[in-house]
Amino acid sequence: MKPIKVGLLGAGTVGAGTFNVLQRNQEDIRRRAGRGIEIAMVAARNLERARGIVGPNVEVVNDPFAVVNNPEIDIVVELIGGYELPRELVLRAIANGKHVVTANKALLAQHGNEIFAAAHEKGVMVAFEAAVAGGVPIIKALREGLTANRIESVAGIINGTTNFILSEMRDKGLDFATVLKEAQALGYAEADPTFDIEGVDAAHKLAIMSSIAFGIPVQFDKAYVEGISTLQAQDIRYAEQLGYRIKLLGITRRSVVDGVEGIELRVHPTLIPAGRLIANVEGAMNAVLVQADAVGSTLYYGKGAGSEPTASAVIADLVDVTRLATVDPYCRVPHLAFQPDEMNDVPV
Ligand code: HSE
Repeated sequence: MKPIKVGLLGAGTVGAGTFNVLQRNQEDIRRRAGRGIEIAMVAARNLERARGIVGPNVEVVNDPFAVVNNPEIDIVVELIGGYELPRELVLRAIANGKHVVTANKALLAQHGNEIFAAAHEKGVMVAFEAAVAGGVPIIKALREGLTANRIESVAGIINGTTNFILSEMRDKGLDFATVLKEAQALGYAEADPTFDIEGVDAAHKLAIMSSIAFGIPVQFDKAYVEGISTLQAQDIRYAEQLGYRIKLLGITRRSVVDGVEGIELRVHPTLIPAGRLIANVEGAMNAVLVQADAVGSTLYYGKGAGSEPTASAVIADLVDVTRLATVDPYCRVPHLAFQPDEMNDVPV
């Protein structure tokens, strides 16, 4: 069977990781997907840099619309970040009958409902494992591994930058601004680091997980969001003396207020007893704890950012989409937590 053709939008850190891992593990990936997965086209701002990553056999262009409008491309991988341009590109790709893989949590938090509805309508897939917790396969765990369960809560450290900052402030007694610069230099932080330190990035990811876990629309706009920028070294010291660690947690869970069932969505610094597993997640690592009725507690831990960890999630989606698209080209979107006619707001 001919390889499935992929168009990459963006040739930055994750794009390079995706290309490298696909090359390195080509044979295993082909066997698992049932056919080859070939990056056929890349859109990038810096053509020279992109050519350096993908080599001479891949078409490299400046215009991302040339990728989403190319009839030869089966799957579009969106790795450019931001909101409006990716929204336009993803909707165009869907309208052109292409499956989409994206790592863009901000896009899905803001426009996910519109994008999922369009994909459902068109019968194509939108997959986004890489959008939440990088290489940690939490979306697949919530959607597939735990599908027999009634999920009660999902709580976790889903922003590596802030976890790195809090860890370094505690271990080395460094101040906030110094550690933030270090996190930026290591490539953990968002282009706009206020998204990290004010909890917005975590809230984007939380809203996506909440949608999957509870079968509700993405409701980022309803989340309570508080970051870590006002925390001081002495807050962390005092917490330590009392036997606690401070972690920026994203928490979503079922709750009942005045007899009305709803879903909580909140991101804020949280005191956690120092002996708990999640209190000991250090550096830029991510961890997500899920409570569900049949299985009980499960914990997912790993690298939440970085080139190859994120590429690992992107490629897992490419394999999923390839399998499904090959078996049934008209299959329904498997990544939706809800059907568009059920998209009423749930109190949060
Ligand atoms: N800025 C994000 C983080 C990158 O620090 O976790 C991965 O989404």
